[in-house]
Amino acid sequence: MKLFIKTYGCQMNVYDSARMADVLASVGFGPAVSPDDADLVVLNTCHIREKAAEKVYSELGRLKILRDERIAAGGKDMLIAVAGCVAQAEGQELQKRAPAVDIVVGPQAYHRLSGMVSRLLKNRDQREADTDFPPESKFDSLPEESKPQGPAAFLTIQEGCDKFCTFCVVPYTRGAEFSRPVQEVIAEAKKLVLQGTREITLLGQNVNAYHGESPSGSIWDLSGLIRELATIDGLNRIRFTTSHPRDMNDDLIKAFSDVPALMPYLHLPVQSGSDGILKRMNRGHNRDSYFTIVEKLRSARPDLALSSDFIVGFPGETNADFDATMDLVKNVGFAQAYSFKYSPRPGTPAASQAEQVPEKLKSERLSRLQDVLNEQQYSFNNAMSGCFTDVLFDRKGRKPGQIVGRSPWLQATHVEVPEAEADNLIGQIHRVHVNRGAPNGLIATLASDEEVA
Ligand code: SAH
Ligand code: SF4
Ligand code: F3S
Repeated sequence: MKLFIKTYGCQMNVYDSARMADVLASVGFGPAVSPDDADLVVLNTCHIREKAAEKVYSELGRLKILRDERIAAGGKDMLIAVAGCVAQAEGQELQKRAPAVDIVVGPQAYHRLSGMVSRLLKNRDQREADTDFPPESKFDSLPEESKPQGPAAFLTIQEGCDKFCTFCVVPYTRGAEFSRPVQEVIAEAKKLVLQGTREITLLGQNVNAYHGESPSGSIWDLSGLIRELATIDGLNRIRFTTSHPRDMNDDLIKAFSDVPALMPYLHLPVQSGSDGILKRMNRGHNRDSYFTIVEKLRSARPDLALSSDFIVGFPGETNADFDATMDLVKNVGFAQAYSFKYSPRPGTPAASQAEQVPEKLKSERLSRLQDVLNEQQYSFNNAMSGCFTDVLFDRKGRKPGQIVGRSPWLQATHVEVPEAEADNLIGQIHRVHVNRGAPNGLIATLASDEEVA
């Protein structure tokens, strides 16, 4: 039987999709190249902004037509499952609004997906829904990873969020903060390395709030975990995302100066540069405390590059508040960033606040902000022209002989090599010479045939 998973949203969903494939592989599902030949299609969804959530319904409409046409033409049936944060947030409502949906499964319940599918295969008239936050951790029941993730892999170490920023659905869709035990993380990391992974990105909605139990029963924070992971032979690079400014403690900052495997790049969302807005967002940090963290990080690791998330048009955001955001951006200088128009989400405190900012003003602010952020990204990339740096090649490019990898600063780096050598280089780290920066990455030439250890 064949499975097609379409993933929306953040990297945690990317990780979850791979793990759902593992769960379903254990009951006989292999990959389909498209929904056209799939027996089961899983939409792993995101609820963070209205647009993301609405996409799911249009995709469901398309899948229903595909299934009806296929069956009418004498073809096979298709089960349709909705997983992820829309499933969690909208639950059985989803099956009412989109009756084509056979299965609804939340982010903390997908280890039970194989049972749900098996029941449906026996009784096609049923519907299945599981949006529990079960007391047992799904990680205890997940099968081994069936497919190597490749040179650069994700590893979820922490889930959920207790911070309740007033704009955000994550605490409701992912549940309370939870950290996986140290040994479990180390074992998964070692397995990834044996399968050829050289770079691991540790994932969590609040990854730097990590507090996992160690074998001795003591609690380790993220810096402790990173130091231990750095001792694994063959694991050359470590990253983590997403961090909250409030949990950026001094030990973790210090790790950037004394753990060479920890890459000099940090995604540290700030959302706004205005103290008034930060307060109403319930962020628990202000503009100055963000600047202080950035200073500490840069003195620990002078070549550290920062990326961030921004929301414009939060309820009550004035021109002066927005200017404060623009000013923060100019002051810090980001290598990369994501920015969004505020999207009111059902059930979150900010959604019912008066003083919603008109859509047109949100769009104007967003485009002014993005102009500056794009300029900063391009100039960060351009500044590397003529430099040498190390790149982990993790995939082939579009053109024959083109390979793509990531610099220490997560810049997508394109290199052209003789076609016969391309395959060999994937999974290796090599020194490259940067010819020029591009808006989204680097164009470079291989500087050495020898691998960087
Ligand atoms: N846990 C991460 C972020 C998770 S959501 C953190 O704390 O930083 C990713 C990003 O989506 C957020 O950083 C925020 O910028 C954006 N976002 C979240 N809710 C939003 C909303 N209601 N409208 C617009 N953007 C939103
Ligand atoms: Fe959402 Fe805030 Fe939690 Fe991040 S810290 S997941 S933005 S509530
Ligand atoms: Fe979206 Fe859920 Fe991730 S809402 S951003 S998929 S945690």
